[in-house]
Amino acid sequence: MTKKISRRHFFNRSFGLGAGMLLFKNMAFSKSTENGKIPMIITSHTNQTGQKAIEMGWEILKKGGSVVDAVEKAANVIEVDPKDRSVGYGGFPNEEGIVQLDASIMDGKTYNAGAVACLENIKTPSSVARIVMERTDHVMLVGQDALRFARKWGFKEENLMTEETRKAWLRAREKMSDRDDWGPPDHLKDLKKKESGTEGAGAFEVPAHGTTNVLAVDANGDIAGITTTSGLGNKIPGRVGDSPIIGAGLYVDNEVGAAGATGRGEDVIKSCATYYIIMRMKQGRTPQQACEDALKMIVEKYKKVNPDFFPGEKFVAINKKGNFGCSNMPGRRKARLSMINADGFKIYTGTSLFS
Ligand code: GLY
Repeated sequence: MTKKISRRHFFNRSFGLGAGMLLFKNMAFSKSTENGKIPMIITSHTNQTGQKAIEMGWEILKKGGSVVDAVEKAANVIEVDPKDRSVGYGGFPNEEGIVQLDASIMDGKTYNAGAVACLENIKTPSSVARIVMERTDHVMLVGQDALRFARKWGFKEENLMTEETRKAWLRAREKMSDRDDWGPPDHLKDLKKKESGTEGAGAFEVPAHGTTNVLAVDANGDIAGITTTSGLGNKIPGRVGDSPIIGAGLYVDNEVGAAGATGRGEDVIKSCATYYIIMRMKQGRTPQQACEDALKMIVEKYKKVNPDFFPGEKFVAINKKGNFGCSNMPGRRKARLSMINADGFKIYTGTSLFS
């Protein structure tokens, strides 16, 4: 199966961390439901930062705290990680070298939602999205006006470009085309190839997309979720992905569950994918089945115009009972997610479509 869109390779993370288990005391608050347990929290991130993030959220949930606080504080851990090139601080910039962040949050209990798009200079866009949700009658603020809004609420402006990301962006810019004026002169082109060989595989890889989802259900069965990202690497300035679009990058329904998307946002927007996942769960599908249904739905649409095209999405979902699932388009490895409930932390392996 071949992908037809150049430079939009599926960025399959290979964090290579094994599953760990944490045991928790005083779990009397935890309720067993049909197959799952609540409270519980998941993230699509399966690296160490993903684990730290949901441990932070779990601390809140296990004390009976707010599910909205739990997802926000968990997402913030990933957003401020300078090494993560797909979310928040250190995120990969657009084609002008400017980091523009998108994020959304949804509170299943109130069906309220907030989002920011193309937000610059603020490390924690999901917290700004939360203020849009809770302190305005709007759902989304964008660009310089979102930044002005964040400043008014006391958010500190910071340079989001780390040295590592700046170098990676410059090198990616040089390697993007041999027909523009970036990179060494023509007679040094061979040297350029040799030099890039010494930098280590992937050192300057452009993350086509990354993103993270954090979804949780508390002991009362209330559900919330966040999707946050720096978006497509080298995107056209002003491009908004699926992450801040309610029903695309994120949807939460307190009666059903929550779903989040990562991967190439354009396809997720055009298919209203997370809303579809919630509707499938409402019809009785498990979170795992509903994620697979959404991928099939997207492929069915594309098949009509290009049978060889498989977009690069991954979906994660939870339901009100504390069940969870994830699936991705065909890629290097099966979809995974990190989760914590009263049984502890684990990395769950879902499915890859057609495997
Ligand atoms: N899914 C993230 C993006 O496309 O921006």
